[in-house]
Amino acid sequence: MEIKAIGCEPLSLKRVGMKDGHTLKVYQDTGGYVQLKKALGMAPADIIEEVKKSALRGRGGAGFPSGMKWSFVPKDNPKPKYLVCNADESEPGSFKDRYLLEYDPHALIEGMIIAGWALGSNTGYVYFRGEYNYLIDILDRALAEARAAGILGKNIFGSGFDMDIHSHTGAGAYICGEETALLSSLEGFRGHPRMKPPFPAVEGLYACPTVVNNVETLTSVPQILEMGGIAWRDLGTEKSGGTKLWSISGHVKKPGVYELPMGYADMEKFIFDDCGGMLRDDKKLKAVIPGGSSVYIMNAGQIIGKNVTLDYEGLVTAGSSLGTGGMIVMDETVDVMESTKNLSEFYKHESCGWCTPCREGTDWIVKIFNRIAAGGGRPEDAKLLLDICDNMEGRSFCPLADAAAWPIQSAIKRCPDDFKKWLVTNTN
Ligand SMILES: Cc1cc2nc3c(=O)[nH]c(=O)nc-3n(C[C@H](O)[C@H](O)[C@H](O)COP(=O)(O)O)c2cc1C
Ligand code: SF4
Repeated sequence: MEIKAIGCEPLSLKRVGMKDGHTLKVYQDTGGYVQLKKALGMAPADIIEEVKKSALRGRGGAGFPSGMKWSFVPKDNPKPKYLVCNADESEPGSFKDRYLLEYDPHALIEGMIIAGWALGSNTGYVYFRGEYNYLIDILDRALAEARAAGILGKNIFGSGFDMDIHSHTGAGAYICGEETALLSSLEGFRGHPRMKPPFPAVEGLYACPTVVNNVETLTSVPQILEMGGIAWRDLGTEKSGGTKLWSISGHVKKPGVYELPMGYADMEKFIFDDCGGMLRDDKKLKAVIPGGSSVYIMNAGQIIGKNVTLDYEGLVTAGSSLGTGGMIVMDETVDVMESTKNLSEFYKHESCGWCTPCREGTDWIVKIFNRIAAGGGRPEDAKLLLDICDNMEGRSFCPLADAAAWPIQSAIKRCPDDFKKWLVTNTN
């Protein structure tokens, strides 16, 4: 497992793998909490402005500009304001946040207190997926250390600002990573998504203004204050600022978590040089899912010789999206019908069942895939699968249904031979 920054200094990975990096002592010895002290002397609006200038886009998948999200929180609303860190990380292929939580919890805490000051929030929550139970102790110990040192709780660093942060665990449901379902779960209800608008920034936790941000997003905040928004942005591109963590898995020699500057050129170099190329030398690349399972699959022809840059715009131009940066590499031994079937089983299992197109659609899709895999594929099945996806995409209550449709739509179009061989030869 590689943990490595390429083309930049390690910023998010600075303490990942460092001995005792998770302790307050090592965090402070390596520059920790200096930015918090600075931030508490700044006007909240100036911090939001700095984050806007940095072109930081949310690392949880949607890539929404973080400074803009923070500015949506109404200042005149008398209700309490909440900051929620999304540590649900359930996207297949994505495993970057767990390293930050395990090795650098104080960077997250510092980012959250700075965000709390900027937003006027005195209470933060970190919502962990159930399977990350083992990480909660690490965060709780770090929170206790910070409280004991006067960094968290009442009158932080003597500034008069109070904030506390609490950890909370879900029970391992993918849908609870969707921000409104997460808030329902955090309130103690079943993790169903909520109607948007109102967006959480206006009406979120306990119907109060709430910002939900990903672990990597919040961990970037002290870096931005240290370097200045523009300098941090310039590590990447104008619209995709800073550096990004990529979790890469599958058929490469050196899977792991890599930190790259946004706009890194290019995807082919990253896979074949930085990650050591194909796991088995005699096998060719077949396809890559670049951003966690909920994005369009790319075939080798869309990557090799195409200079795909690793940033939000570059991946859209190449026909997919950056998502969470969870890159899944598949060599020619993979049957993309079978890998797509596998993902469809995941989405069926994780559909919360609230709305009909997603509940019925994901179930129907899995039944079709099971029949195909059992040798009962029919020539019209590709069209049938695409029709069902069309009836889910944009017609369901939350984006999980879109996420379930995209891998199928793109796999059928971009790896057609892997479907044809299952669909043309069977008549039963
Ligand atoms: C089905 C689904 C699952 C999601 N899971 C996660 C997750 O595990 N972690 C995460 O940070 N965002 C997840 N998101 C995105 C969140 O809804 C939200 O956009 C994000 O937490 C906002 O933080 P950011 O702006 O820092 O990216 C998910 C979205 C959907 C639709
Ligand atoms: S789209 Fe799926 S996951 Fe989202 S609310 Fe509807 S049933 Fe639930």
